Amino acid sequence: MQPRSARITGWGMYAPMGVLSNADLERLVDTSDEWIVTRTGIRERRVAAPHETTATLAAIAAKRAIAVAGLDPDEIEMILVATLSPDYPMPSTAALVKEAIGNTRAAAMDVAAACSGFVYGYATGHAMVSSGMYRHVLVIGAELLTRFLDFGDRNTCILFGDGAGAVVISASDDPGGGMLGMELTTDPDGAYMIWLPSGGSKSPPSVETIARREHYIRMEGKETYRYATRTLASSALAAIQRAGLTADEIALFIPHQANLRIIESVAKGLGLSMDRFYVNVDRYGNTSAASVPIALAEAVDSGRVKVGDRIVFVAFGAGFTSGASVVEWTADPALGRRADSVVPAASVRAPVDWDSVDPMPARLAAVLNSRNGPAVPLDDVVPGEPEHAHREVPA
Ligand code: ACO
Repeated sequence: MQPRSARITGWGMYAPMGVLSNADLERLVDTSDEWIVTRTGIRERRVAAPHETTATLAAIAAKRAIAVAGLDPDEIEMILVATLSPDYPMPSTAALVKEAIGNTRAAAMDVAAACSGFVYGYATGHAMVSSGMYRHVLVIGAELLTRFLDFGDRNTCILFGDGAGAVVISASDDPGGGMLGMELTTDPDGAYMIWLPSGGSKSPPSVETIARREHYIRMEGKETYRYATRTLASSALAAIQRAGLTADEIALFIPHQANLRIIESVAKGLGLSMDRFYVNVDRYGNTSAASVPIALAEAVDSGRVKVGDRIVFVAFGAGFTSGASVVEWTADPALGRRADSVVPAASVRAPVDWDSVDPMPARLAAVLNSRNGPAVPLDDVVPGEPEHAHREVPA
């Protein structure tokens, strides 16, 4: 049966404890705090610990969103994880999250639309709920980008960080609220402006691809910047028009947090002041698909969103993709406190006869170790868990 509306009933985020400051990056590449702050607005970003993975970050944010929605994890019928940094090419990260949150009944799949992934996932989840297909859909944006960065490339390694955010979309018998309008676009002209060259069917992993450093994110910064400023404004406006509204009627924009200058330029283009835009890029850098749901959870929990407000999610990313949704907020922001009871830990089962190599990039580990004192452990075993079996490394 079709519900009368599909509303966000839960929200939550998780940012790993490790902080990588601009000063730390000054020790890795030829850069400066002044350059990074002036060009991007970023001051620090989070780094996942060696025992964490995209699925564990996602699971913590998900458990928080489910607690806020007042649901049992088993009431979730579909799990969508938007990510460009999955635990593995297969199985999906969503399948791992399902087990980690203690759900037994949901279908689960990943959404691949890079930094626009959460907005694409939200549109997909909304369609599933509003059509009557499912009553509760969990949409997560989660990234562990520090494992896909070349910490010798100053053009990219200063920009990105790790984190996760999630929402629960639920069927409601009350009319109104939820998504009022949306726009999704894909422009393959930009396919190689932000990309990760090797590891897929075109260029499988090999000694050569490793030597050519092709397993790291590459980016044409200027082209991406130009595309971002244009498309964020046009996507937001298209979604607002479909909702039958004007930009003036939007209480808060929650944009993808890639670069403060990009957000400022979009505000200027729409003729709006910056206090209508939520910004946290200074603290997390660009967390790709996680950035909009992290910003949403922070905005709601800090009182920036009230019941009845029209808000806009808007993002752009590799593809090039872009997307925007206009949402009428219906949930009591005070419910966000329910997330406080969720312990920020999650565990994803690995096969007993297999263990990964140390996942922390060596250059990053060296800087974090020399600053923090204790050495980063050389395995990814969660504290308190049994040791994984040791892998035979061929000579
Ligand atoms: N520190 C110091 N100098 C640097 C750094 C650095 N970290 N990086 C580049 N530079 C240098 C360049 O080499 C260049 O030097 P040159 O003039 O001697 O050649 C100079 O600084 C200027 O470089 P530009 O690229 O012109 O700098 P710009 O002002 O364009 O800023 C930036 C670069 C921040 C990357 C900007 O272009 C940008 O934000 N682009 C968008 C990127 C983005 O949002 N990507 C995410 C996409 S989302 C997804 O799906 C993953």
